[in-house]
Amino acid sequence: MAAASIVIASNRGPIGFRRDAGGEVTAARGGGGLVSAMAGLTTDESTLWVCAALSDLDREIAAAAPGRRLDLGGHPEGGAVAMLPIPADVLDGAYNSIANTTLWFLHHHMAGDPHPYDEMWHRNWASYVAYNTAFADAIIVAAADDARILVQDYHLALLPAMLRTRRPDLRIAHFTHTPWAAPAVFTTLPLEVATDVLAGMLGADSLGFHTPRWAAEFVGCCVQLLGAETDDGGVWHGDRHTAVRVHPLGVDAAPLLARAAEADVTERRTELAEAIGDCKIIARVDRTEPSKNIARGLEAFRDLLRRHPEHHGKVVHLALAYPSRQDVPAYREYTELVASLASDINDEFGRDAWTPVRLAVRDDYPRSLATMQLADVLLINPVRDGMNLVAKEAALLTDDAVLVLSTEAGAADELGPHSLLVDPFDITGTADALHEALTMPAAERARRHVGLTRAATATPPQVWLRQQLDALE
Ligand code: G6P
Repeated sequence: MAAASIVIASNRGPIGFRRDAGGEVTAARGGGGLVSAMAGLTTDESTLWVCAALSDLDREIAAAAPGRRLDLGGHPEGGAVAMLPIPADVLDGAYNSIANTTLWFLHHHMAGDPHPYDEMWHRNWASYVAYNTAFADAIIVAAADDARILVQDYHLALLPAMLRTRRPDLRIAHFTHTPWAAPAVFTTLPLEVATDVLAGMLGADSLGFHTPRWAAEFVGCCVQLLGAETDDGGVWHGDRHTAVRVHPLGVDAAPLLARAAEADVTERRTELAEAIGDCKIIARVDRTEPSKNIARGLEAFRDLLRRHPEHHGKVVHLALAYPSRQDVPAYREYTELVASLASDINDEFGRDAWTPVRLAVRDDYPRSLATMQLADVLLINPVRDGMNLVAKEAALLTDDAVLVLSTEAGAADELGPHSLLVDPFDITGTADALHEALTMPAAERARRHVGLTRAATATPPQVWLRQQLDALE
């Protein structure tokens, strides 16, 4: 096996496995913006993608593959992929508890109080350390001399420093796809853990964030907790300098438009158009996840219907919420809350020929694309969001839908001037924006649409990726 000169390290890899009802194993493409962004690199022979096995079936297949290499074990679909069969209990502590509960809600300013840092939590933290170590063990063996390592996201905050200690020759970048917590929030972590996370990240040569806001929060945490010095280009910790950079990710227009032109999308569009008839569509497409703020979006729709009876029977809220991280109680409970709110609104306003909210909690990509194409208004109101690629994809797929966008989405930096910006906590303000969007004159919609598509495609994944590789030259 030739050593890899570029290594991608991420929790979710480019493929995962499913067993269908007949017992047959199929490889499915990994979901989410991160996977789409990195996928372009996997065709390059010198690149290895190291990821975690996320299910029993993934673990079984990964453990049987020579050197954990799926491509050498009969699964070439994702390119050269080393999938780590991390034990289920370690993965549970690292992924469900630390990454998707503690760190996710911290960075999205939704951690609440008090967050119990008890014995169980500390055991989970030990799993997070073990999980990061498993990646380090695999990469130090697989990486060529001076290889460039692209570490992704909050699951792997400790990995850069682990690699730096064991392989000082490596050139290491880390990219954060989420926001970064403000210092006042980040310091609610146990002190030792907070400093380990920051020092872990600072093991990299270059750190990337989607917006200047998240980069500034990270630097603020380093100053406050580590006493780090800063300059225009980054952070000094001891005698080491780590560059801190902003690389917003945009969408790749051609493949997205080609996918959206396929027959299954056209079919879904016809079905939806028939079901909705002449009504206008306020659409949203998200993972069912508390930071996406689907519930306040529903409340804003209810507020709109209460204050503007002229919309009754004339508008439908189409909410596509595909299931996400359902092993974590907070995500499961949120999914239930969203479903019950949708049904309350339908009970309050629904009539025989009009169902005001149509909520679909399932993963149906062609239906998501068809929904974005048909939308008159797109509601994207996260509490806080690293970027929100759906906003950019939607901008490209619609003819002239108006984007109602949270100020707290990273995408607001670029799309804000062409959107109606809302405070994600302000239900009445969001309802007002929905009303303005529904009644906006066509010429104004068209004018905004030109700006939206231009901004959404400004930094396609190839450019974004190249910026990060160049940062390591
Ligand atoms: C966010 C994270 C990604 C993650 C994706 C899907 O975009 O930044 O790292 O892959 O959500 O979440 P999941 O837990 O399903 O991988």
